[in-house]
Amino acid sequence: MVHSLRARLLLWLLVPLAAFVVVTSGVSYDAARQTADLLQDHALLDSARTIIEDVGWVDGALNATIPPAALELFESPWQDHVFYKVLAGNGRLLGGAPDLPPPSASSAVQPVFYDSAYAGQPIRAVAYERLLYDSGRAERVTVIVGKTIASRQAMIDGLWRPQLLRQWLMLGLVVLLVPLGLTLELRPLMKLKDDVADREPAQLEPIRPDHLPSELRPIVDAINQCIARLKVHAAMQRQFIADAAHQLRTPLALLTTQTQFASQCDAHDPALFDALKGVRRTSQKMAELTNQLLLLAQAESMATSSRAQTRVDLTEVVASVLEEMVHAAERRDIDLGADLAECVPVAGNKGLLASLVANLIDNAIRYTQNGGRVTAICRCEEGEAMLQVVDNGPGIPAEARAHVFERFYRVAADTEGTGLGLAIVHQVARSHGGSVNVAAGAERVGLVATVRLPVLAG
Ligand SMILES: Nc1ncnc2c1ncn2[C@@H]1O[C@H](COP(=O)(O)OP(=O)(O)O)[C@@H](O)[C@H]1O
Ligand SMILES: [Mg+2]
Repeated sequence: MVHSLRARLLLWLLVPLAAFVVVTSGVSYDAARQTADLLQDHALLDSARTIIEDVGWVDGALNATIPPAALELFESPWQDHVFYKVLAGNGRLLGGAPDLPPPSASSAVQPVFYDSAYAGQPIRAVAYERLLYDSGRAERVTVIVGKTIASRQAMIDGLWRPQLLRQWLMLGLVVLLVPLGLTLELRPLMKLKDDVADREPAQLEPIRPDHLPSELRPIVDAINQCIARLKVHAAMQRQFIADAAHQLRTPLALLTTQTQFASQCDAHDPALFDALKGVRRTSQKMAELTNQLLLLAQAESMATSSRAQTRVDLTEVVASVLEEMVHAAERRDIDLGADLAECVPVAGNKGLLASLVANLIDNAIRYTQNGGRVTAICRCEEGEAMLQVVDNGPGIPAEARAHVFERFYRVAADTEGTGLGLAIVHQVARSHGGSVNVAAGAERVGLVATVRLPVLAG
């Protein structure tokens, strides 16, 4: 398969054009041959007529005196040989070459033109008959004139060659001009390539489509759309790094204060113990924040990379997360229940899906009052894998629901948390081709978080 645009376009043009030239060459050769034959035959017949004019009766017998003019007609630069013979009705030779061959079959149509050979050379000949009368007598006289075919061939060539030459010239021009034209016309594409290739990573301005051929506009538009998306993405990344740094700065400052305070304490001071407990809490919080940040980055890179996914049973993931959460629920006297279908297969990353489930259940346990109820539901519904975490806690006010999936967004600042949990849930669901939404529970009590993922067939 040829992959050069130039070569392919050339092929598209050359193959049909060459076929056309071959066919028209054949046709024009035929036309040239017909014209040449017509002219030659006409000349042959003219000379046969001239010869027969001069056959007459002399003393009661037929006599032929061949005028030189009859043969002069053939004087040509090609040195054709002319032969003739004149026969009387009874086969008597009146003049000319006796062994000049007659037409192979007699024909009703007069005169008879035919191809033959004489003296080892191919000839074209005419046989022409006429009845000659003399005082009541009539005798048939046949004149045969033959001629070698050099001038006929020369005439065909003369008629045909210029046409052939013109057509081959046209083919040659196509071979020359198409690559040349393409090279010139592809220059904007090369310029576009340079424009894209020479860009700095941070140079995210759209490409200016001035002076571009209309065929290239869609490509430039597509590249510009891609650049616009990259720009938004880059801005989001910058914002994320700024937010993350900001979030990490607070516990780091706290850690500095706490360690400073501890270092000033006496070895047996009970406050030292409290200070160290504080240090541990703060570093735990930082570890959690870092973990969440890593998870978010991982979920995002999974969305952009080709999904290296395996078959994961969502039920199994939910069951194992519930097992880990049992103690946390018990501590808060929360009734942790489950309604799990046999097997809900999805394609994805097990670790990320586990963090999605864990964040939802952790939120439900964390924000529901002591003695509350949290239920995890997992089943296939309408051809989708559905995971629901239902609680009977305070829920999320309607105006805040639109924001809870944003990074670092928290409804109430007085509880512990990073504000990244639902952002992770959202990103993981998206990178698995699914969605998540939160709604108020039955009778406006509690929260229902619903995740839908494409179910894996088979
Ligand atoms: N089950 C829930 N009940 C009530 N409020 C919730 C629940 N889940 C999440 N929220 C609210 O949504 C906010 C964002 O949740 P999340 O992204 O997990 O961050 P975090 O839990 O670290 O605060 C929380 O601060 C909380 O106010
Ligand atoms: Mg949370």
